[in-house]
Parts: sequence; structure tokens; C-alpha cells
Amino acid sequence: MCGITGYIGYRDAYPIVINGLKRLEYRGYDSAGIMMYDGKEMKLSKTKGKVSDLELIVNNEEKRKVGKIGIGHTRWATHGVPNDTNSHPHFSESGDLVIVHNGIIENYDTLKKELVTRGYTFKSDTDTEVLINLIQEVKKNEDCKLGKAVQLALTSVVGAYAIAVFDKTKPDELVVARLGSPIAIGVGKENNEFFVASDASPFLEYTKNAIYLEDEELAIIKIGKGIKVRKIMDDSLVDATIQKLKMSLEQIEKGGYEHFMLKEIHEQPKAIIDTYRGRMLPDQGIIKMSGVDDNMSKFLNADRIIIIACGTSWHAGLVGEYLFEDMARIPVEVEYASEFRYRNPIITSKDVVIAISQSGETADTLAAIKLAKSKGAFVFGVCNVVGSSIARETDAGAYTHAGPEIGVASTKAFTTQITVLSLIALKLAKEKGTLSTSAFQNYLRTLELIPSQIEQMLKIDDSVKEIAAVYKDATNCLYLGRGFNFPVALEGALKLKEISYIHAEGYPAAEMKHGPIALIDENMPIFVIATNKGHYEKVVSNIQEIKSRSGKIIAIVTEGDTQVKEIADHVIEIPETMEALTPLLTTIPFQLISYHIAVMLNKNVDQPRNLAKSVTVE
Ligand code: M6R
Repeated sequence: MCGITGYIGYRDAYPIVINGLKRLEYRGYDSAGIMMYDGKEMKLSKTKGKVSDLELIVNNEEKRKVGKIGIGHTRWATHGVPNDTNSHPHFSESGDLVIVHNGIIENYDTLKKELVTRGYTFKSDTDTEVLINLIQEVKKNEDCKLGKAVQLALTSVVGAYAIAVFDKTKPDELVVARLGSPIAIGVGKENNEFFVASDASPFLEYTKNAIYLEDEELAIIKIGKGIKVRKIMDDSLVDATIQKLKMSLEQIEKGGYEHFMLKEIHEQPKAIIDTYRGRMLPDQGIIKMSGVDDNMSKFLNADRIIIIACGTSWHAGLVGEYLFEDMARIPVEVEYASEFRYRNPIITSKDVVIAISQSGETADTLAAIKLAKSKGAFVFGVCNVVGSSIARETDAGAYTHAGPEIGVASTKAFTTQITVLSLIALKLAKEKGTLSTSAFQNYLRTLELIPSQIEQMLKIDDSVKEIAAVYKDATNCLYLGRGFNFPVALEGALKLKEISYIHAEGYPAAEMKHGPIALIDENMPIFVIATNKGHYEKVVSNIQEIKSRSGKIIAIVTEGDTQVKEIADHVIEIPETMEALTPLLTTIPFQLISYHIAVMLNKNVDQPRNLAKSVTVE
């Protein structure tokens, strides 16, 4: 939810930390702060608002930038409203220790009361200030070094954290720790500098060597000496492996686009190719996916597949339900991870659970995975972020290889998740014999065409923009689709809601007459997916029903359609494809419309209010 970053080494820390915060701002952006240590003093600058607001403050006073050690934070508020005081970093009461924290200390109230009885007072409403004072108290009582004090303090903590802590009385080290929230450590040459961040993006231009801490691990980073990693609970030493980062700087920059979201929409053709590259081999008539191949019997013998996810990933899961049931004839249930984890679900070792997550860090999905595993289910992950918590927690999996997605509104994550699910469904269908060889082959050939068809669709951006201009002032919208395209209707509505703040609802087209039809009048834009294979005639009847109630119809149709064109106010064409693959195309105009409406309404497209890219709290 929040982003943390830090530097200790021989360079000026300020540009590294502040630029790192800008790259992490997708994680939360209601306040930002930085602590710079100039060799004598710690200078704290923090404010409600964005990293750019923080920069304004720091730019007013050059001495706030001085030092070779710095830690920074960009916040998505949990405990305490977003204001200057609640912003991180937080000092301990003595003023010697300072912390940045991503996560939630669930028992902070109990800990706070205990500290109050020992004479502590608190400036902020945050759980984080409680933690840093707990560390101070332990350090004083045990008369130990910072690393030990952090470790001991964390044994009393319930909740989730990724933290970086600095002690000005021992200014050659940083202590970091994680439980449930990610943290990466960038390692410089000969241990002469180290970087700390919620993901590796802040230090990509400095080092490609990184250590990702595992849950319940603590690292003491010492300039000139190196990193010592320990297990927090049993104090055992961990042999942390240095990984070579594959992510490039180019991938995390806007590359000439006005917003990350637009860049990511345009990246979809390449992202989908990257998803199926090396896996889908139409010439050989096979799909290779080691995570599925190695566990084929589990999939084939499964009583059912349960898909768990949140938000857009849940919508991709719904498409998955249609794909698995239609192609491989395996019963599927799709569950919100947040509901699944708390409703005492019936799960057995004959269930296969597929967890879908772009970030691989969503707290509810992670908890649902743990629950499913504890009940004996085989859990398969579909993640984008390599090495993420969900990727590590699952028994096997398949990455989407979409590349970094930075815009808070998911776009390429959705289409690449659907691509992975299509590959798995097709593979299982082939293995089970529920699809003929020619049908299987036809799917592969047709899926191979999708990237160029999306390229073709992206060229219609100007006409989509014109439609966006007509409906940008709407206050309510409906999105309708059937079958494979019902989840696309949900996703279209979510995209509009989250970045333009226009209320929108997605419905199965036929459900309209069971309630939402009451909303329709001449002011209501209704986006309808009416492609030629998905119950076309029935959807056309729904469109007629809308028309006779004066609703405004924006229809997504297949190239060459004539019937809907006569009734709808606007049509957007998608190229011909197989019905099961239409979601990969029908979602594109919805992404573009939401994007253009949000831009026209002057909204912050990449960082919509109240949202964060990865939801690492409940
Ligand atoms: O990283 P995840 O895929 O697990 O994230 C799940 C949702 O938080 C995410 O899809 C969210 O709904 C997006 N803002 C949608 O655009």
C-alpha cells in the first residue's frame, strides 16, 4: 500500500530517494516524506500530498537534501488521516531512531497503551510511531544494537510490515525487515552502497543485484561490510541469494505517452505475445507450460477449479470460468478472495485453486491461498510480478510476463491474465480430449492473431475519443455483455469508475430487465457488447429494449455488422475472432473510453483518488 525507499552509500542520497519515491508512488500517494542524514543530524521533511509537493518543500531549503543516507515514504493511509504529522518517516521519542513502514501493526493499540504507561507520548495517530517507540524501548531495556532491538520488537508485533530503520548513533547501518509486505535490497559493488525499496524500480539504474527478503526476515545492512539476514523468530542466519534483475529502466518510464495507463493499453499486443511466447507452439500443435505439465494429474483429477482473486484479476477469473467450463469441461467457481478467506469454504485435496494477481501482493488473495493450502488444495498462481509473495506462496504457477504495470487501473494485466487462462484451458482441453485436434489448432492460430488485431483496434483511438467527448459528463453508465463478455462488462464499468469517478455498473445483458432497466432514460449511456457469436440475436433484443426507453447505446460489434449499426447511437468494431477470445478485443475500447473520459475530466489517470496499485492490507 505504501512505498518505502532508502539509500546508504557514497552518493548523494536525496536524488536516489526522491526519484525512488516517484517510481513507487503507484503504491500510495496521499502523503510523502523523507529523512536525510547529513553526518550529524537527521533532517525530516514530510507533507500531505504527493511526492511533487514534498519536493517543493525540500527545494526551499537546500540543506534538507544533504547526506549520503536517506529514507523515504509515499503513503496510502491506514491508521490516521493523511496529514503532515501522520506522514512518514517517524522519529522515536528520543529522536535517535527513524522508521518508514509499509503495512499495518494490528496490535498497535495494545502496544501503544503499554508504551504510554512507560511514559511515552505520541505525536501522530499512526501504528508506525508505536513501532519505532517500541524499538527504542527494547533497545534501551536490552542495551542492544539496533538490529537486535528491531528483531526483538518485531516478535511482539501482530500484522504486516516492510520497514527500514536508521539509528543516528550508529550511522553506518540500516535495518530492514518484512512480514507480508515486500522489500528489495539493491546491492552495490563491494558493499560500498545499498538501496532499499518496496520494489526494485528505484535502484534499477544503479545495480541489477537484488536480494528480496522473505517473510519474517530481517537484514542488517552495513556499509563496507555487507548484509546479514536472519529469521526474526528463531534468530537463525539466512543465506540470502542475490538475484539478477531483468527489469529495464525503459519498462518503468512513460516512453513518450502522457500517462502510464495509455502506454500500458498500447503495450498489450506485445504483452500478449510475451505471455504466449515459448508456450504456444501452433506449428507443433502444442502448448507448453511447465507449471501445468508438471501437475497435469492434479488438474485432470480435480473435482473442480476454484479461482480466487480481487478486482480486475477477479474479472479475468470470471472469463477463466467460461473458458475452463466451455473448453475443458471442468466445473469452476470464482470467488472474491476477501470473501473466500472468511467464509469457512469447503475445500478438499481434490480441488485445484487458481489464484490470480497482477502484483502478487494482494493481502486477501495471499490469505486465501494460505487457507486453501492448509486444507490440502493444490494452488496454482497466475501473477505478473516475478518473485512476488503470491508467486512464492503457490505450489506452481505461470507468470503473465506483461512487464511492469504502473497505472493503478489494470489494463495489460487483464488481457495477459486472460491469455494465460486461455492457454491453460486449451491445454487441459487437449489433454482431456474435450476439444478436437482441429478445434484446438484453430484456437492457437486465432489466438496468435490477437496481438495484431489489438494493434488494428488501437488505431481507432480518435473515434473512441469522439464518443468519450459525448458522454464525459454522464453521471451513471451501464455496461452490458453476455457469456464470455459479461466479465468484460464488469471490467469496463470498473475502469470508468476508478479513474473518472463516474458511477457505472456492469451486468449480464439479460439481467437488465430484472432491475437496471428502471434506470434507463435519455441521459443514460449504455455500453453493450454485441459481437456476432455471443448470443447476438438476444443481445440485439436487449438493445431494442434500451432504444425504446431512449437510452444512449454505444455498441461493440464485429466488423461488418449491419443490424446493430441501425439501432445504436455509436458502434465500435472489433475484428472477427472466436467467441471465447473476444474478451481480449472487446475490452480495448472500454479501456480507451475510460482513459479519454478521465483525461477530459482532468482526473489523475495513473493515480486515482483513494486507490493504490497493490492492496497489501485487508
Ligand atoms: O494485484 P492484483 O491483481 O491482485 O490486484 C487486484 C485489484 O486490487 C486490482 O485489480 C484493482 O481492482 C485495480 N485497480 C483494477 O484496475
